Amino acid sequence: MSKPKILIVDDQQPNIALLKSLLPDYDTTEATSGRLALKQISDQKPDLILLDVMMPGIDGYSVLSIVKNSAHTRGIPVLAVSALGGMDEKLKSLAKGADGFIIKPVNPQELKAKIKALLRVKVLHDELDAAQKTLISIAAMLDDKHLFRSGHSCRTAHYAVRLARLELLQSWQQEEIRLAALVHDIGYVTVPESILLQGDRLTPEELAHIQNHPLTGETICSALASFKPVLPYIRHHHENYDGTGYPDKLKGAAIPLGARILAIADAYDALTNDRPHRKALSPQAALAVLANGAGSRWDPGLVALFCRLITEYNGTGPESETETT
Ligand SMILES: [Fe+2]
Ligand SMILES: [Fe+2]
Repeated sequence: MSKPKILIVDDQQPNIALLKSLLPDYDTTEATSGRLALKQISDQKPDLILLDVMMPGIDGYSVLSIVKNSAHTRGIPVLAVSALGGMDEKLKSLAKGADGFIIKPVNPQELKAKIKALLRVKVLHDELDAAQKTLISIAAMLDDKHLFRSGHSCRTAHYAVRLARLELLQSWQQEEIRLAALVHDIGYVTVPESILLQGDRLTPEELAHIQNHPLTGETICSALASFKPVLPYIRHHHENYDGTGYPDKLKGAAIPLGARILAIADAYDALTNDRPHRKALSPQAALAVLANGAGSRWDPGLVALFCRLITEYNGTGPESETETT
């Protein structure tokens, strides 16, 4: 088994050499500035970062913020190291997302014990990450299985994140919306294919089966703690702005913002792709449907923003068609 990779970040080479000498059981690399550290973290994905918080230029606190605000790196444990042993430094490091704190000169036993504990947490995080990826893969496979839906969740995530960005949501909120979009229809796994392929000729029982998919999706995803913040987006992605949607008939701002964004991205992708009962609409026609449903099915402010997004992206504008989904 390969040794865990530890990145040591310190602007003082003697400090790096000392830490390296204390950690012969690990594959250690080094960075002597915040800028070099960020490059190495992105290139090498270490298993743990030993981070000196007081450095010239991009200091350790800035590195911490960047690492912990990125979905790709936030799972890497960071042990903050500081020569200042005050409560302020410790609290500031922990507030920025550090997973532990140690004072220089380090006590070798304390250092090794803290590293061991954090690496155990990293293993659990990696397992969770793998479970999350498995659910996302199942959702994508489900899309592929029903040929008319192939790529639907991925494209929905793409549109939803772009809309969230235009709505000026923070990167962690964009990431939550992306995650929800990637699995939003996973609840279809319990809907028989015969029902899915019927399009709009459904009996009330079959319709109820279809309309249960947000709840089933919520139940499936609730098994993983990392999905907890996005469960409301999955549950409510078929609510209508005027309160006529499902499953809870939520209205207006009572529908979580992430779900309102997801609903628009979801509908646009459905409209611009073939379905069993109709052919794909052009982007202009799909935007016209969204504009027609603004205020009834979808959040009018978000629809306006989305129309701008697609119009600027495709160089097209809505026509006056009234087809509904
Ligand atoms: Fe859905
Ligand atoms: Fe969908």
